[in-house]
Parts: sequence; C-alpha cells; structure tokens
Amino acid sequence: MTVAVDLKNVWKRFGDFIAVKDVTISILDGEFFSLLGPSGCGKTTTLRMIAGFDLPTQGEIFLHGKPVGQLPPFKRDVNTVFQRYALFPHLTIAQNVAFGLEMKKVAKPEIEERVRKALEMVKLGNKGNNRPAQLSGGQMQRVALARAIVNRPEVLLLDEPLGALDLNLRKEMQFELKRLQRELGLTFIYVTHDQEEALVMSDRIGVMSDGLLLQVGTPAEIYNQPNCRFVADFIGETNFVNCHVSSVDAASKMAHVKVAGQFDVHAGSADDVVAGKDAFLAIRPEKISIHLTAGSVPESHDNVFDAKIVEDIFIGTDTRYVVELAGNVRLAIREQNMSALDATDPYDVGTPVKVSWDSDSARILMS
Ligand SMILES: Nc1ncnc2c1ncn2[C@@H]1O[C@H](COP(=O)(O)OP(=O)(O)O)[C@@H](O)[C@H]1O
Ligand SMILES: [Mg+2]
Repeated sequence: MTVAVDLKNVWKRFGDFIAVKDVTISILDGEFFSLLGPSGCGKTTTLRMIAGFDLPTQGEIFLHGKPVGQLPPFKRDVNTVFQRYALFPHLTIAQNVAFGLEMKKVAKPEIEERVRKALEMVKLGNKGNNRPAQLSGGQMQRVALARAIVNRPEVLLLDEPLGALDLNLRKEMQFELKRLQRELGLTFIYVTHDQEEALVMSDRIGVMSDGLLLQVGTPAEIYNQPNCRFVADFIGETNFVNCHVSSVDAASKMAHVKVAGQFDVHAGSADDVVAGKDAFLAIRPEKISIHLTAGSVPESHDNVFDAKIVEDIFIGTDTRYVVELAGNVRLAIREQNMSALDATDPYDVGTPVKVSWDSDSARILMS
C-alpha cells in the first residue's frame, strides 16, 4: 500500500491559540479516512492545511511522498467538498460541474465527456440542464461532489459534506459516497463530528480532541479498544468505574484491577496502564449480560458478579437496565429484545441477579 497523504508533526497556531498539536498520520491510497471529533477540535484546520488553504506553523505535509511546502491549493492534487456548497445559480448543473475544467482550458469535447461521466457517477445524469434552484438539498450536494470528482483528484477532502442534510437523506448519501469512493478508488479524507457516520463509512478513523490526534484505528478498534477515556466516551455509550490496577501482563496487556476495594475484574488494558495506579474500568452496556442464576452464565464470561436491578426501562429494540454491584458500583446494561416476550422481562427492580462479561470486552484506561 502506498501512502497518499502524510502529516509529520504538524502544528497550527493562530496567535496564542494552538488549533492543531503535533499531528502525525499516514493516510493510504484508496483509503476512506475520517477525522472525527467535537466541534472546535481542529478537524477543519487539519483539512485546510492538506488542501493548502492554511499552512502549518510547524511540521510538513507530503502528497504521495513529496513535501507540499507552500504550494497553493490549485497546485495540489486534491479537491475539497465543503458543507455549504456554493453553486452558481445562473448556470446549469452541467455548466457548474464544467466550470473548473473550463478555467483549466481543457478541450471542449473532453469537458463534455468528463461532465457527463461525473454526473452519471452521482446519479444526476438526467439533470445536466437543470438550474441549482430546481434541485433538492441532497441533489445539490451531489453536484458539489460531481464538481470535485470531475477534476479527477487523487485525494478528495470532504468537510462535513452531509452536515446540512436531514437524517434520512444523510444516511442515503453516506451509502452513495462510500459506493463512489470504492468505484473510483479515490482516497477520501472525511471530516465529521458524527461518530455513527464515521463508524459506518470509514476504513480508519482518527479521533481528535483539543487539537490532538488521540487515536487512529479501524472502526472496530476505536470502538472496542479505545486508548483513553475521551475516545471511549465520544464513541457510543460506556460505563466508567474507578479502579486500582493490581497487575498487568506485559505480553498480553491483560490487567487485573480492584473495583471499589471490593471485587476483582480481569480486562484488556491500554498501552499506558501500569500496576499500582488508579485507573478506569470502561465497559459498554451491550457487552454485559444479566442472568437469574450462575448456571446460565456463558462459559466465555470470566467476570461474574452478584448484583441487583435498580432500574429497568423498555426502549423498544432494547431494554436498558441499571444494576448495582458490591461497593455501590452501578452499571448500565442494554439487552436486545429479540422476542416480543422480552417486553415482559423477568428482571424487575430489586431482583437479585448475576451480571457477567468476558475480559476482552472490558478495557482499563489510565486517563
Ligand atoms: N483563522 C483562524 N483564526 C483563529 N482561530 C481559528 C481560525 N481557524 C480556526 N480557529 C480556531 O481553531 C479551533 C479549531 O477550529 P476548526 O479546525 O475549525 O475545528 P473543527 O473543524 O474541528 O470544528 C477553533 O477553536 C477555532 O475557533
Ligand atoms: Mg469544522
């Protein structure tokens, strides 16, 4: 796999404010890579530096191995799609898409052919003669995409391109974008603050907070093996419980921790976890199961504890429970309602139960 975009120790300062702090990433050719994080964490600034609209204060960016230095945007083989598409209202859709190629003095027949193909790609082959005002929000966003892909950039930068669309359309467009990226074999660098969008679309995700790139990994790695509390918290729902680290196996990274001075938990651990320190036990609600008797606990579940039900809320697809373990430790649990009979669940408030999970499903985090 060749590397499409490399950021090496990239910093961006605006006066006293540091928007991007020492970011290093290698994004592969043909990869769908998302930068995910809350508003203001530095995603757009990172993208703008790759595009050339901003220059790094420090560090270097490489496109296909070549340092881009101070190259202006139009000399970089990247194209950007922004959240707010600026289409020319007085031009037809085809003319809007052709605009960039005309500026570059591409020959007329070639322009026509490329515009036709680009519009077909985004499923707007029959809308070439329409004006922007005649299109829906989703169709306009697809014109913005066609306008970017018609330039055949090796790397497409997308800054919350679906942010202005309503939920149903956004889901449809997520699918379309993913299809387009696969078909064209393009490298996509996609900025979003929507964790579900990032999980669904990406080959890999880089999670940012406060200018820092906290973790890079596949959606499953980010979800199942977060390296810090921020990442675990930002993506999905997580129970965090204070604990004290008793031991960590150097090879397997499996740790034993003591919770509330009461019971021992066995779990995978982040790289920075060390014995003798306070830490957090992080466990997702859907990874915990509830049983009336120890006999029905699955064999793979090596963490089994007594608990009692303190809350029980039916939410259609799932039932959400809160259970209390020794030392007043409370955990949220989600159980899928596989059958309509589950609506009359056996776990009323006050029921003594066993809760269990396997040690690979929990995670010990330092910070
Ligand atoms: N040109 C600028 N001048 C000063 N501060 C800026 C400028 N651009 C961005 N910032 C600040 O940098 C931080 C990161 O911004 P941005 O990269 O747009 O975040 P995101 O896209 O993750 O929401 C924000 O606090 C923003 O206010
Ligand atoms: Mg932004």
